[in-house]
Amino acid sequence: METRRSFIKKSAIAGAALCLPVSLAGKGFADYPELKTRNPKKVLVLWYSQTGQTRRYARLIGCIFKEKGLTVDAFDMSKFDKKLLVNYDLIIVGTPVFYYDIPSNLIGWLEAIPSINGTPVAAFVSFGGPEGNQHNASSHILKLLADNGGVPVGRDAFRNIASYPTPKWDSANQNAGKHLPDAATFDQVRRFTADVLERIRQGRTIPVVYEFALREILSLLPLIWLNKKAVSRHTVDAAKCIGCQTCVEKCPVNAIDPAKQTVDQVKCLACFGCLNNCPADAVVMEYRGERLYGFPEYLKRNKIKIMEPVELKTCDL
Ligand SMILES: Cc1cc2nc3c(=O)[nH]c(=O)nc-3n(C[C@H](O)[C@H](O)[C@H](O)COP(=O)(O)O)c2cc1C
Ligand code: SF4
Ligand code: SF4
Repeated sequence: METRRSFIKKSAIAGAALCLPVSLAGKGFADYPELKTRNPKKVLVLWYSQTGQTRRYARLIGCIFKEKGLTVDAFDMSKFDKKLLVNYDLIIVGTPVFYYDIPSNLIGWLEAIPSINGTPVAAFVSFGGPEGNQHNASSHILKLLADNGGVPVGRDAFRNIASYPTPKWDSANQNAGKHLPDAATFDQVRRFTADVLERIRQGRTIPVVYEFALREILSLLPLIWLNKKAVSRHTVDAAKCIGCQTCVEKCPVNAIDPAKQTVDQVKCLACFGCLNNCPADAVVMEYRGERLYGFPEYLKRNKIKIMEPVELKTCDL
């Protein structure tokens, strides 16, 4: 199967040959199978989320579909049985942008899905900064779904607080996104959801297009490896650890062992899921010698309460 890198390389060569400076052509309408339905009844919303922001959008999307009378399932994709994908009339996948792409642990998951021939699919990403390569990250999701027969009908990117820990949580992105999501972000999610449904009903698809962005080139660097070099003392503080196992559940590669206070540095993806979810500030990580602290502690220190969309008050997804 063609990888994203080889796809981008080929597209870049083709783009250069055709003098396309802005966007890299990807899979187009002509390559898609027929839409399996124009009247979807059963929707699946899959999400991957480390600090809850992608999950919030996924739940909102699912709740809007429910309000419209559709049957909706919403799951953390890492806990969902891929074989069941064939049972749905519409599949929406949402992930955060990590290192200018989708989280690396999800690529293999999406590559291994069964054929969903003709099923309408849509993708969204949540992201922390305007330079975050979000367009290409959502293209990556769509491409992987389309490779297995999915028919793209929508994509979007929703901004919120950057969950990337820095010693003082004071990067430009964190400061500028502190108040997000806001009412406008949730309206954007509502529009995305309505547009997806409208496109399916009209039989309109969208192409998978990669933008030729500097961030795309950065995403091809070994960023995780470079970051792991900058992070030191990645262990667990036995005196603070309450043994709740949250870090174990959140680690996508089973790299952390709080009982032994160890982290397998070969397996670790530098996703900060352990640090960002530990309720006891017991995960130790230093960035260039400065101690990092996680997302719950950042919210607490800054008295930030993340806004919730009104739909989630009554919807049980
Ligand atoms: C390891 C890591 C890498 C990140 N890389 C990017 C990035 O390249 N671009 C971006 O816009 N945001 C980046 N972010 C911010 C997240 O995409 C953003 O906060 C996202 O909404 C988190 O979603 P979640 O709460 O569902 O986990 C990164 C966050 C982490 C933890
Ligand atoms: S040990 Fe922590 S940072 Fe490393 S992959 Fe697991 S959750 Fe992510
Ligand atoms: S999440 Fe924190 S407190 Fe819970 S087991 Fe892991 S290190 Fe210990």
